[in-house]
Amino acid sequence: MMPEMFCAADLRSFNTFGISEPAERLVLVDNEQQLRGALALADREGWPVTLLGGGSNMIVAGSVRGLVIGMRSRGRRVLRRGQGSAVIEGEAGENWHRLVGWSLDQGLHGLENLSLIPGTLGAAPMQNIGAYGVELCDLFDSLDALDRTTGEVCRFERDTCRFGYRDSLFKQQAGRFVILRVRLRLYTQPAPRLDYAPLAAAWQATGLARPDSRVVSQLVCQIRRSKLPDPAQLGNAGSFFKNPLLPPEQAASLLATWPAMPHYPQGDGSVKLAAGWLIEQAGWKGHCRERVGVHREQALVLVNLGQARGVDVMALAADIQRDVQAKFGVALEMEPQLIGG
Ligand code: EPU
Repeated sequence: MMPEMFCAADLRSFNTFGISEPAERLVLVDNEQQLRGALALADREGWPVTLLGGGSNMIVAGSVRGLVIGMRSRGRRVLRRGQGSAVIEGEAGENWHRLVGWSLDQGLHGLENLSLIPGTLGAAPMQNIGAYGVELCDLFDSLDALDRTTGEVCRFERDTCRFGYRDSLFKQQAGRFVILRVRLRLYTQPAPRLDYAPLAAAWQATGLARPDSRVVSQLVCQIRRSKLPDPAQLGNAGSFFKNPLLPPEQAASLLATWPAMPHYPQGDGSVKLAAGWLIEQAGWKGHCRERVGVHREQALVLVNLGQARGVDVMALAADIQRDVQAKFGVALEMEPQLIGG
């Protein structure tokens, strides 16, 4: 049976930035059958479709035409457990952080560095979520997605997903695939990843001799809480811009002027800069406007100071981009997906 469809639905509680803009129609689906029903209806009526996971990586720029479909499918399981690794599978609507906790409860390791990332499992591969030295693609096994152009469910292995920094095939071909369920390959023994210096320091300070994934998870949560605002208290969409990747020559010339600039050489020769640092140097950290601002602890995060509308957020983002371009000659690319408007 088709679930209830809401008209002129306020999206405020469906995006972590807390932007209040209406969706022409909204439906929440629990399974593939309901999803197919909603897509078929939209096709018949000619409504454009917008898929919504946890709404943690999107900015609602204005009212959203057509049909917004919220993925609410639940379920998770250990598919198989081998000598060194195990494969878990979860439905797209599963909450990411709860899945991380559940995997640790199963005695499985690997997801601890990705603790407390807001959003759903189904949205995680879209932008290849990453934090504290680990990216989803490091632990990815495969996923099932509905191809809207053929109506078929396709299985994608890791090498077909075109994972990159905050990027994937599903993001590049936005709107084509609806991710239904995701499989991750985790470790049966602790496999700590402590490359991120503040995490390594926090681990050292515990004095523990044996690796402990739960402790690492707790430390990651502490670090996140110290820098990133809790969306339940202060609306935000995490990092608002991607960290820019520069050709080596451009990075070298910037470093000559700004020797203290954080920079991370990549495997392909390019150099990643810290957008938060660039924004702070451009004088935006802690900036407050009437309804939006730049977080005091982390300049890469734009925050909702109350009643923010999409236009407020986009105006602030444009001002920051302009200043960073003028000061450093670097173009900042927005990280969250933009819908509506
Ligand atoms: N920095 C500043 N000022 C700031 C913010 C950062 O100088 O206001 C400097 C820091 O001191 C550090 C460097 O910039 O030297 C990097 O900062 P941080 O380690 O906080 O990480 P980030 O590059 O700002 C990225 C991800 C985060 C992820 C962290 C930790 C992106 C766009 N963001 O942030 O992901 O949690 O690394 O791995 O890649 C997200 O995607 O929403 C997100 C929060």
